[in-house]
Amino acid sequence: MAAESLSGWLSLREAADSAARSSDLTRAVIGHLPRASPIRILDLGAGTGSNLRYLSPRLAAPQQWLLVDHDPRLLEEAKRRAATAADAVPLEVDTRTMNLVTLDHPEIFSDRHLVTASALLDLVSPRWLDTAAARCRDVGAAALFPLNYNGRSHCTPAEPEDEEVRALMNRHQHSDKGLGGVAAGPDASDCAERCFVAAGFHVRRETSDWVLEPDQRELQVQLIQGWAHAAVELAPERRTAIADWLARRLAHVTAGRSHIVVGHDDVAAWLP
Ligand SMILES: C[S@@+](CC[C@H](N)C(=O)[O-])C[C@H]1O[C@@H](n2cnc3c(N)ncnc32)[C@H](O)[C@@H]1O
Repeated sequence: MAAESLSGWLSLREAADSAARSSDLTRAVIGHLPRASPIRILDLGAGTGSNLRYLSPRLAAPQQWLLVDHDPRLLEEAKRRAATAADAVPLEVDTRTMNLVTLDHPEIFSDRHLVTASALLDLVSPRWLDTAAARCRDVGAAALFPLNYNGRSHCTPAEPEDEEVRALMNRHQHSDKGLGGVAAGPDASDCAERCFVAAGFHVRRETSDWVLEPDQRELQVQLIQGWAHAAVELAPERRTAIADWLARRLAHVTAGRSHIVVGHDDVAAWLP
């Protein structure tokens, strides 16, 4: 996705992300951070900084953030927008443009109290998660991974092809997304839990589903179009049927009667 369209998508989803995230789990992981000043946080795949905007007021202490992404334009936007968040709490924000394909950069983890990545884990491979757990353990950092798609979604009113499209979309999630091999996709939270438990962490999970109401039209439209696109990529012979399904789903959105739930989990881990 081009930076402009990814930035637009991230901005469109930010309110839904913020409403969906587990405040209990956020409080729990913050409660396990050392009483350091500043708290040092690493945000992987930071995009335009939505995770920072959610977490910084809740950390309620001086913070030093390192935002890492392979897209410098998203990071520039994140830095610009972080200046506003800094009004509320002392905040130092550094950015680093880096391809996180292997996580072969121990220096970005060094001295971090918290390692976080929001809406990222379904794109990464199980091996990437293994490495992330080892890096966090090496520096004694806690981890917080919010908004991992878990493969469960539900649309009302229902259409006959909903299940077929969901299954194709979930298969598509297992393609290589450029983060260490075949992506964990809907299994990301299970996989993260296994990797962090194996590395000696205590792991806790909470659901963080998007519950999209009829007035969230633009987000629904882009979401459904993305599902249709992924489904056709895997089943080109179903192009006409999927286009027809898409037209019916979009008509529900236009008519203001479409409700969509998209299943996510938040995962947190800390050393006992
Ligand atoms: C779904 S977005 C999530 C962004 C942000 N964490 C949020 O919650 O809004 C995934 C982010 O990962 C970044 N990303 C994807 N592949 C990457 C890679 N190989 N190396 C570094 N960043 C990557 C993208 O540029 C994008 O900003």
